[in-house]
Amino acid sequence: MKIILLGPPGAGKGTQAKFISEEYSIPHISTGDIFRKNISDKTPLGIEAKEYLDKGQLVPDEVTINIVKDRLSEDDCESGFLLDGFPRTVYQAEALDSFLNANDNKIDMVLLIDVPRELIFDRMTGRRICPSCGASYHVKFNPPKLKDKCDICNNDIIQRKDDTESTVKDRLDVYEKQTEPLINYYKEQGVISAIEGSGEINQVFQRAKNALGAICK
Ligand code: AP5
Ligand code: MG
Repeated sequence: MKIILLGPPGAGKGTQAKFISEEYSIPHISTGDIFRKNISDKTPLGIEAKEYLDKGQLVPDEVTINIVKDRLSEDDCESGFLLDGFPRTVYQAEALDSFLNANDNKIDMVLLIDVPRELIFDRMTGRRICPSCGASYHVKFNPPKLKDKCDICNNDIIQRKDDTESTVKDRLDVYEKQTEPLINYYKEQGVISAIEGSGEINQVFQRAKNALGAICK
């Protein structure tokens, strides 16, 4: 299964991706996680990406596209993958289509997680992540078992630098201008399926499974 998760910042893409990738045994590829790992390792890519992430702006298309092509060329992506946070511009979507076409492949489903804007700020400002494994928590809606510790690696969890109210606002603007046009792009291809992203995390996962059931038969 080749799946794209689409939706605004805070829609729950990363949260649902964890469950979907386990359920269907496909690798979860998050461009945001790749950039954050490079920033924390202070690689040349991380140094370049940092200025964009801190401002809530998109990393340039060419940089991002090459990273994703390299990742999709790895063996574990042969039977499928789950893209989270990519593509984010029509240019990235076209580049992904040509890359997949060249390998006789195509996207099976774009799962759009719809969330009312008023939920987004609460979700983002309460989010905490593990700097080591990328696991995502929420102080109120999805707390870790031990206070401030990652359930998976027991590291201290932290707040993302771009989860301040003003950066979230900028990220939402970027989403509306640059990423939302992808909804029509994939509608035209007939591969988009929208689910409601409000409600309990597990409820949203059930909706995701129902939608994905259409391509698992
Ligand atoms: P990225 O990391 O992809 O950020 P994003 O798209 O803004 O999305 P988020 O990770 O903020 O939200 P999410 O939908 O994953 O929500 P989550 O599950 O964590 O990108 C970061 C930056 O990297 C970009 O700004 C850009 O600079 C760069 N970048 C990345 N990809 C790029 C690309 N393709 N091109 C160029 N630049 C790129 O959930 C949010 C919170 O809500 C959590 O605390 C969670 O616990 C909670 N929550 C989740 N679901 C529920 C629920 N049902 N009920 C209650 N709480 C919930
Ligand atoms: Mg995410």
